[in-house]
Amino acid sequence: MSDSSMSYFPSEDISNADQQLLEKLQELARPGVRATHAMPGEFYTSPAFAEIERTKVFRRNWVCVGHTGEIPTKGDYYTTDVAGEPLIVQRDGSGEVRVMANVCRHRGNLVATGRGNKKLHVCAYHAWTFELDGKLKRAPLMQDSPFLDTARCALPTIATTVWQNFIFVNLDGNAPPLAQSLAPLETHIRNYHHEERELYHSTEEVWQTNWKCLAENFMEGYHLNATHPRTLRPVTPTELCEYVEGNGHFSAYRAHYTPDSSQRAPHHPELSADERRFSFLFSVFPNLVVTYMPHQTVYLCLRPKTVDSVAVRWGIAGHEQAPDEASVASYVAFADAFNAEDRTKLETLQTGLHSSFYNPGPLACDNLEGTLRDFYAYIGKQVIE
Ligand code: FES
Ligand SMILES: [Fe+2]
Repeated sequence: MSDSSMSYFPSEDISNADQQLLEKLQELARPGVRATHAMPGEFYTSPAFAEIERTKVFRRNWVCVGHTGEIPTKGDYYTTDVAGEPLIVQRDGSGEVRVMANVCRHRGNLVATGRGNKKLHVCAYHAWTFELDGKLKRAPLMQDSPFLDTARCALPTIATTVWQNFIFVNLDGNAPPLAQSLAPLETHIRNYHHEERELYHSTEEVWQTNWKCLAENFMEGYHLNATHPRTLRPVTPTELCEYVEGNGHFSAYRAHYTPDSSQRAPHHPELSADERRFSFLFSVFPNLVVTYMPHQTVYLCLRPKTVDSVAVRWGIAGHEQAPDEASVASYVAFADAFNAEDRTKLETLQTGLHSSFYNPGPLACDNLEGTLRDFYAYIGKQVIE
């Protein structure tokens, strides 16, 4: 390691193993370098590295917080958090998606909890009341206060953008426009017309694995045969996976269908004959993983909780108009089945990654694990910049 190479990291705060991890990531961030092996355990288990990720990955980039279908009506909202910042994600009075800090401008209580529909947000502590655009409307019994400047007491609005019906926030407000970074990805997915797909189902779960284990699992096709022998393998076996080159902001692969599998429908008429015969799986770095099937979308929006746990906000959208309850229940049951297969592997994986005997093994070819190479390079680039 050169003297300057680790100047980004206060060495007194991190262990030797963490230093080695940062060196490794620095190497993987170099242009043209592609990982040959999996990552060391500290990548998934180190609290010090998780803290670096929190500031360098999750505060500085566009981070997905959900799907616009979760808040279809003016006043709809839900609460979430990114990098420890509590947020209100809502449809404001003008019908726009707006994300605000969920922190009262009086003494810091959470203004909203859970989800629902509100015309105003009233802090439960002393009843300061905020408009849907964040402006302070009322501070009870403080009309004579010489210190209250209402105009300076709005809830902060967070930089927000909607892309393909997914809601993204950028906490530091300095990230370049997301759509610009993802323009090459859009050429692959425009025919799906995801913006026309209706959200059928969304929910949140906590899985006992590092968030990157789940991100990586969703973006690689190598595990399909062994992990999903009866759910996914019959239609999208590992052998038919095809890597798609990313651009540093996303990774992707096509999971081609077996020739004898039935056509998934209904789908958009602009989908080409080829596109009707594969699922397009992609990851918008850092935390959104998605599969666009000809007829449906399954997405997972990931939020690290601890090094060993991740909050998974996931959902299903599709081209079928207003499917009946039984149909939706069957789509959810299928997704629950393959998610459960992943989850058991990822939770045992997390235990293995803590072992001192874990020694990273070689990665498979790009068609099977090339997206992991893209992801490691992305994380490397973020943490050394
Ligand atoms: S902390 Fe919200 S009204 Fe006092
Ligand atoms: Fe899987």
